[in-house]
Amino acid sequence: MADRVAIILAAGVSSRMNTQMPKVLHEVCGRPMLAYVLDACRKVGIGKIYVVVGFGIEHVRERFSDAEDVVWVQQQEQKGTGHAVLCCKEHLKDFEGETLVVCGDGPLIRAVTLKILIEKHEAGQTAVTLATAVLDEPAGYGRIVRDAYGNIQGIVEDSDCTSEQLKIKEVNPSYYLFDNKVLFEAVEKVKPDNVKGEYYLTDALALIIATGHKVLAVTAVRPDEAKGVNSRAELTEANKIMQRRIQQQLMDNGVTIVDPDNTWIDIRAEIGQDTVIEPFTYIHGEVTIGRGCRVGPFAYLRSGTVLEDDVVLGVFTEVKNSTLAKSVRARHHSYIGDATVGQNVNIGAGSITANFNGEKVSRTSIGSDCYVGSGAILIAPLELKDGSHIKPGMVVSQDEIDKFGKKG
Ligand code: UD1
Ligand code: MG
Repeated sequence: MADRVAIILAAGVSSRMNTQMPKVLHEVCGRPMLAYVLDACRKVGIGKIYVVVGFGIEHVRERFSDAEDVVWVQQQEQKGTGHAVLCCKEHLKDFEGETLVVCGDGPLIRAVTLKILIEKHEAGQTAVTLATAVLDEPAGYGRIVRDAYGNIQGIVEDSDCTSEQLKIKEVNPSYYLFDNKVLFEAVEKVKPDNVKGEYYLTDALALIIATGHKVLAVTAVRPDEAKGVNSRAELTEANKIMQRRIQQQLMDNGVTIVDPDNTWIDIRAEIGQDTVIEPFTYIHGEVTIGRGCRVGPFAYLRSGTVLEDDVVLGVFTEVKNSTLAKSVRARHHSYIGDATVGQNVNIGAGSITANFNGEKVSRTSIGSDCYVGSGAILIAPLELKDGSHIKPGMVVSQDEIDKFGKKG
């Protein structure tokens, strides 16, 4: 197997996003865009990844501080994708292997496609292999120009296309695998003679073809993964596509999602078999749901929620940073925050944990088999013993519990 590294281009100024934040930190279904691209590279066995970042590099590094396989490369001035690759020259000029180049603003990338790209590259013994997509609406993307025999001649950026070229539906999603030496020889020669005055990586291809190297373009990228994120509208679109993938995966794993269009589930969530997610449920952050649970409609689950098996959460129930043991029921209008709830507890309509006293957040612990009547306010820090019975409407503090014993 060839020695292989990746370069992720993530330094663009992202003017179309209209943001103060590095574009690749914008989130898609709960993770920054860059995380998806890094993962796709890792899944095809790439052990060293050069990420080219521009403004806000310190924020990006901080967010990915545990990524030991990443080498951060700064591109001081954003002069184009070709120039961004050139910024890695110091690190890679003597590298004798293959370099995968992808964009940080393409979170929909799938490892299976990269695998095809690598296989085609190996089989064809080419200097460059790129994966392309065919889009019904190709506007904005670089177009793949092929000759009468179907061989790729080059890529023309949207802003540089002739009216004939604008009709080409085969586009460049920016998935390339290069022989490293060929890549750096070519990017050094790229000139910024285009409408935007940038050094385009796409222009390196024409140069490589002109020197007689074998270049292969395989149509391997599905339309739903080709979409790059350059604007807020495209970010929303990427979220939608990713959300469909997440839900499809969950459904394949045996989860019922009653109304996928009106349900939102974070990529970090794990949900067990035969759990039913009712409409208008929003699951955000690291959330673990066991088997046979029923969640929603209109439930809001936040980071740190763990539901063991057979838990029932109903309408307008919010749970955060809490573990609910088997068969807990909170069917209507509850807030359970920073709590541990034992097996078989019933939390009545409108009961809440008051976990924040204006200064700090405290925990509530509810033992097994407790009954919490409707409209109770449980003031944290609080510990209710197994079998406690809290009458409807009670305001419960630890002081009172200590005074009156376990029966409410
Ligand atoms: C680029 C491709 C285009 C392709 C599209 C796919 C070029 C010239 N064009 O266009 O053919 O269809 O991606 O999504 O390559 N970047 C840097 N430094 C720079 C400029 C850009 O790191 O100086 C990064 C950006 O952060 C981004 C990526 O490179 O992640 C692509 O740049 P972007 O400006 O989004 O290019 P597109 O117009 O989308
Ligand atoms: Mg882009």
